Amino acid sequence: MSGSQARLTIGNDTFDMDIKPGTIGPSVVDINSFYGDTGMFTYDPGYTSTGSCESKITYIDGDEGVLLYRGYPIEQLAEHGDFLETCYLLLYGELPTKEQKADFDYRVTHHTMIHEQMSRFFTGFRRDAHPMAIMVGVVGALSAFYHDSTDISDPYQRMVASLRMIAKMPTIAAMAYKYSIGQPFVYPKNDLDLASNFLRMCFAVPCEEYEVNPVLARAIDRIFILHADHEQNASTSTVRLAGSSGANPFACIAAGVACLWGPAHGGANEAALTMLREIGSPENIPDFIERAKDKDDPFRLMGFGHRVYKNYDPRARIMQKTCHEVLGELGIRDDPLLEVAMELERIALTDDYFVEKKLYPNIDFYSGITLNALGFQPNMFTVLFAVARTVGWIAQWKEMVEDPSQRIGRPRQLYTGATERDYVPLSKRG
Ligand code: SDX
Repeated sequence: MSGSQARLTIGNDTFDMDIKPGTIGPSVVDINSFYGDTGMFTYDPGYTSTGSCESKITYIDGDEGVLLYRGYPIEQLAEHGDFLETCYLLLYGELPTKEQKADFDYRVTHHTMIHEQMSRFFTGFRRDAHPMAIMVGVVGALSAFYHDSTDISDPYQRMVASLRMIAKMPTIAAMAYKYSIGQPFVYPKNDLDLASNFLRMCFAVPCEEYEVNPVLARAIDRIFILHADHEQNASTSTVRLAGSSGANPFACIAAGVACLWGPAHGGANEAALTMLREIGSPENIPDFIERAKDKDDPFRLMGFGHRVYKNYDPRARIMQKTCHEVLGELGIRDDPLLEVAMELERIALTDDYFVEKKLYPNIDFYSGITLNALGFQPNMFTVLFAVARTVGWIAQWKEMVEDPSQRIGRPRQLYTGATERDYVPLSKRG
């Protein structure tokens, strides 16, 4: 479809704006000259109708429940691929050949250690610090150690920074976990794949050999695939906005980690498990459903609803399947949390309020039960989300930096504050 135009009439004036079509999904109305032409700003708090950029990385059809990474359906990538293959795909746009995959795996594996002096950051935190607080601090500090990959104008340094972030996030996350439970740090091992390495760094202790359970490692790897990228979500938009000023990639990722922590975003997996524990048993569900519908009650069903998905989040289906696999492998037959979750989903999906508002389980609804069964404490759930989403943040940051039309992001506002007035000296203010 060749580009056509949109016409806006304001009073006696008309303004024509180009319509740009995408390869799939909604077209956009280019309002870049809107303020210059009209003297007005557009207004879209929460950006429900605003495209912030052009991207080739991830496509979501919220009505159909479709998620594509570089055109490949998430179901196929989660079924047949592994996380590092997905990282390569998101970064470079194509599935790697055998040789490219082997080279990429080797390079990421050989960046998994962090500078030994960084371990001192952890001891500066209280033992009961939330691991996400540690992640924000330590990830931001990476730029204090890796000056040789902070020049964003150098393609080689951009590549090295990308590999370092993907490789070091699991190590930093595992160290944050070990620090929070008072156990010694476990170094990565180069003969393990990323997911196996991560499980070992989290759960191995010096007193005995740790044997990776391949079923659980596969589950973690698939969970990372599901969380890898998701178009222009809040934390990715944060990374893009931070990066638009020219900030180094480590600082931008730290900004993304901070944004992801919010309970409306990546913090929902921790909040969802807390909610399921609070509900406790199926007979309590109706009361919580009523609270979720009560406008005067701030309570919401955590793990339900989504700005884009108005159908079942395709990741939630795969997450639920993975949850059953993990519980089965661990011999957990009747997990009360899973029983509550499945009954809550059944009731909510037949309740008029949720049906009318198109509120379905999202990726965070089943991830908490799965991660809890894997042995992670709830305050580590968003940390795992951040480990996985790092590749999405870096891929989107790289796409933005390499976009020749890229400019600093600087939104405007609708000002409704005081009009100009003169200063009143303290002596005259009564
Ligand atoms: C993630 O953007 C992404 O892609 C994010 C993510 C990613 O991969 O990056 O997918 C990851 O963040 C998933 C979402 C995790 N958050 C939660 O599960 C928290 C609970 N969900 C909500 O807070 C909410 O659904 C949001 C934040 C996810 C979406 O918020 P929106 O799009 O701003 O929608 P809204 O809050 O305006 O809700 C629309 C209506 C409201 O009712 P009305 O005011 O129109 O009467 O639906 C209601 C809300 O009250 N509603 C809910 C609800 N979610 C929305 N009511 C009860 N329980 C809920 N969970």
